[in-house]
Amino acid sequence: MSARTSSASSARIDVLPDEVIGTITPDIYGHFTEHLGGCIYDGIWVGENSKIPNVGGIRKALIDHLKRLKPPVIRWPGGCFADSYNWRDGVGPRNTRPRRTNFWADTDYLSKAPNGPQKYEPNQFGTNDFLRLCKSVGAEPYFAGNLRSGSARDFYEWIEYCNSPAGTTTMADLRAQGGEPNPFPVRFWGVGNESWGCGGAFTGADYAVEFRRFIEWVPRFGVKLAFIASGPNVDDYAWTHSFFQKLVEKGPGPLRNVYGTALHYYCGTTGTGVADQFTPVEWYELLFKANRMEQLITNHWQIMGEVDKERRVKLVVDEWGAWHHTDPSIDPSYLWAYFPTLRDALVSGITLDTFNRHADKVAMANAAQLMNNIHSSFLAAGERFTVTPVYHVFDMYAAHQGNKSIRTIVSAPPASQSPQYPLTLSGSCSLRQKGAVLTVVNPDVENWQETEINVRNVRIASARATVLTSRDIHARNTFERPEAVQPVRDENLHAGSPFVYRFAPASVTRLDLDLN
Ligand code: AHR
Repeated sequence: MSARTSSASSARIDVLPDEVIGTITPDIYGHFTEHLGGCIYDGIWVGENSKIPNVGGIRKALIDHLKRLKPPVIRWPGGCFADSYNWRDGVGPRNTRPRRTNFWADTDYLSKAPNGPQKYEPNQFGTNDFLRLCKSVGAEPYFAGNLRSGSARDFYEWIEYCNSPAGTTTMADLRAQGGEPNPFPVRFWGVGNESWGCGGAFTGADYAVEFRRFIEWVPRFGVKLAFIASGPNVDDYAWTHSFFQKLVEKGPGPLRNVYGTALHYYCGTTGTGVADQFTPVEWYELLFKANRMEQLITNHWQIMGEVDKERRVKLVVDEWGAWHHTDPSIDPSYLWAYFPTLRDALVSGITLDTFNRHADKVAMANAAQLMNNIHSSFLAAGERFTVTPVYHVFDMYAAHQGNKSIRTIVSAPPASQSPQYPLTLSGSCSLRQKGAVLTVVNPDVENWQETEINVRNVRIASARATVLTSRDIHARNTFERPEAVQPVRDENLHAGSPFVYRFAPASVTRLDLDLN
């Protein structure tokens, strides 16, 4: 990387406290887990008899670190896996559970790996185990139901299994036999996954009919169930249009029963696809692609509003992230596991800031995936464990959860070396009591960005910074160097109005501003 220089103070950030966008629901800081590669087996689940420290079979290091992120919600069991999953396989005595072919077993990469739980699902981690994981880290569970190969009855009996009061139904008895006499209860239910593809190859209109059938009757048990429809693939606006049109063909009633529609957008990779091999131009390319989330949200939202005039239905971005190739040095069975770099941390910052800025539209988001997979916060193999730069961004941004998102205008010069991928400073700001949280991504690989920060009609009394960066844009945490990338705190900023701050090159920064 070339020597870094300082730019003149030509950037400004103006925070407009009177212009509230909405409350940042903690749920946009959610995660996603799937029976895919090393995510569940040897990632989350190590088994009760493992020598790896565990809590009832769940990796203890994961529980301890995940709690720090205040994870609001975790989605499970897929992804594409969900539409071939029979939840009954994963309950009852562990030693009698069936083994099934995993949805991903035939992928080129995995088919060459040795046989194991990644290819032949042993069902050792099931509903009760997932719910224990959620309880132990304080997250709400979000189940992805099986629409392609399961029935509406399977779907509502899973709800009955989780939510019916002790002693009332055969399902509640089954749950009690698994050690959980009391209902959990589970509120979020996805009706299929990617129903335009692996979830059944439906058209938006055909799926709307199936969706209506699945949710037409389900037992409630006093729980305010939130149904999430399978939504569009990236910019498939025709899907959103046709789903909503068909949903209301017999009247607007079904709109009352849709909590959200699930948008999936992976910003992908660049060049060779190897997570830590990229040029500065490819650095910008990936960040530019991450920035596309903004347009996807506003465009789908506009189409949804043509039918949903009362804006009952929100967007749920339940799969997002960068997606690089598998790193075979981790484990040959861990499909799509790799060590995320600083570049992926900036992808996270750009995306979470986008969600904050659209707090009025996005009701939930789930980074794909939590562990040993795409865009992960955690990597583990056997006893080895590390948090990734993505984890640090979630940790820094947790301060936004539950705050009011405030309109914030950023004007800054374009980042250097990226004419074909125009990028500049970007961020989001939220208010809580007498403080503001301002998160900013500086994509420029070589320039500091001196920036004047104003909060309209308010004085910034004091400020603290937390900065995630590295002199090497390819930096990443590995099992050998788990602390190579970690945030640095600066408690002694010179505050005042205007407040001038220099954003480091290739960085994600959180500023905690005390206002009076
Ligand atoms: O996250 C990996 C896969 O990506 C999911 O299973 C699927 O929903 C998406 O295509």
